[in-house]
Amino acid sequence: MKINDIAKSLVSKGKGILAADESTGTMTKRLNAVNVESNEKNRLTFRHALFTSKDINKYISGIILFDETIRQKKNEETICEILNKQNIFPGIKVDKGAKKLAGSKETITEGLDGLRERMEEYFNLGAKFAKWRAVYKIGNELPSQNCIVANAHALARYAAIVQEADMVPIVEPEVLMDGDHNIHKCYDVTSNVLEETVNQLQIAGINFSGVVLKPNMILNGSGSGVKNESNQVAELTLKCIQNNLPPEVPGVAFLSGGQSEFEATKNLNQINKQNKSSFIFTFSYGRALQQSALKTWAKDLNDIETVQTVFDERSKMNSLASKGDWIEDL
Ligand code: 13P
Repeated sequence: MKINDIAKSLVSKGKGILAADESTGTMTKRLNAVNVESNEKNRLTFRHALFTSKDINKYISGIILFDETIRQKKNEETICEILNKQNIFPGIKVDKGAKKLAGSKETITEGLDGLRERMEEYFNLGAKFAKWRAVYKIGNELPSQNCIVANAHALARYAAIVQEADMVPIVEPEVLMDGDHNIHKCYDVTSNVLEETVNQLQIAGINFSGVVLKPNMILNGSGSGVKNESNQVAELTLKCIQNNLPPEVPGVAFLSGGQSEFEATKNLNQINKQNKSSFIFTFSYGRALQQSALKTWAKDLNDIETVQTVFDERSKMNSLASKGDWIEDL
């Protein structure tokens, strides 16, 4: 399958992406928070439960995996084989995390060294798309232009290598919701970040039809004490993205970024209700798809069926939201 078709399928109507690519460190934090030991077997058991839920292929087009998971097997089948059987694209997180940007308090995402060779290996393991996350924090004078340009440049170099390897790059510039800023500040910073990211992708000669953008929604800072109104979130998010994204990009798949499961669904739904453009807006959620399922699992590690029911319910709500069809009290 050509990358333009994979990108289109990843954002096809009523479907979104499951981000299950937490690094071992992050997954350990998530498991420890619900008093479950983080070991290879437990990480696989939980993820395999999600990946084989009854209705997953109705709502999920692709799953982003971590390096450990793409190499794991369950009952002699690789995770990629298990996903392929259900027509779900396997993807892979390829960045090596946000590291200290020299001379600054900010971060630069690393992982370009040896990336071409790693992409070849991931391609052979079955990955069809990849993910790279850049992180920007809003604060006094932050993010700096240095942080915006350096991260955009790295995203563009990553995207070029991924397309060269015949895979779809998910380009994820995440402006964090941490901080006491208001929603308009988030709009301004996200606009600058997206503008520079698109500029660098253009300079690198990226085929925009074979890219999926994974941005943050436009929100009030989580420390601002201001409640987000979804009408306003939708209005500013749509404006920000429509002003900055080339029309060739087949779709946008938001990260949840610390929003509750409910908020992430509600805001996505409102974005789709207010969307008058031809852009497609769906989800690529980690926490907002997994939180309830993980808490449920922690109560009884043997009750996989209930975990799967909870996960299917969350996926269904986000699938409805991706069409603007979600109703609050369903
Ligand atoms: P969240 O939806 O939990 O923000 O995770 C998405 C993701 O892939 C972060 O890189």
